[in-house]
Amino acid sequence: MPERNIRVLPTPQALAQEAAGRIVEAARRQIEQNKSFTLGLSGGSTPKALYELLASTDHRQRIDWPHVEIYFTDERCVPPDDAQSNYRMAAEALLSKVPIPAEKVHRMRGEIDPQQAAIEYGRMLKDRFGDMGLDMALLGMGDDGHTASLFPGTEALKETEHRVMANFVPRMNSWRLTMTAPFLNRSWEVLALITGSGKAQRVAQVLESEPGSTEFPIQLIDPPLGQVTFLLDAAAAGMD
Ligand code: 6PG
Repeated sequence: MPERNIRVLPTPQALAQEAAGRIVEAARRQIEQNKSFTLGLSGGSTPKALYELLASTDHRQRIDWPHVEIYFTDERCVPPDDAQSNYRMAAEALLSKVPIPAEKVHRMRGEIDPQQAAIEYGRMLKDRFGDMGLDMALLGMGDDGHTASLFPGTEALKETEHRVMANFVPRMNSWRLTMTAPFLNRSWEVLALITGSGKAQRVAQVLESEPGSTEFPIQLIDPPLGQVTFLLDAAAAGMD
């Protein structure tokens, strides 16, 4: 794990506000420098509040959406209109409400064969980024320390080459698509958004572990040229 950038916010709403401010600033800087901002979205309940905030009147105008490119850090192997789809959640909360061109939203095709979907998304990332990575990746953490769809004990944790893998998750008896740690570690910035007292113990284990520990998947996220910032609400920080 890198030296830890940790910010504790009093509530999930305050965390979403903090994350939104960081995204607005990163987008401004990257678009100014590179005329584009590449952002990786995660699924789950924590980022949904952030996506809704980014789509709100307070924030929508603060990002130059036509210059934003959206990618997904992981996806469930379901159709895009399935209630479990990360794409559907992001589309409903944010993407349908901001002027981002459809061709700049890069959905993982959860509806096709997982291996084929992983290959095609990985090829797209290689064509777009070469050996580079995202400007910013938004990640969450499960109470088992998983992030994206890198779950403890699964094959994708071992991947050292590919950018995207189809990953079978035994505890869910289902396939997932996920960016790999090597690709996520090419990100310039990673925001790990973690809320809820149910994660406090795991957060403490992750943040208090020895540098270099990889006991939990989220500890694999360690961009050598970038930085990981943990945004925690008071509950996840064990302070409530
Ligand atoms: C997913 C997410 C997943 C999520 C964690 C935390 O596809 O479910 O990408 O990795 O970030 O499960 O989810 P919550 O933020 O809802 O606790």
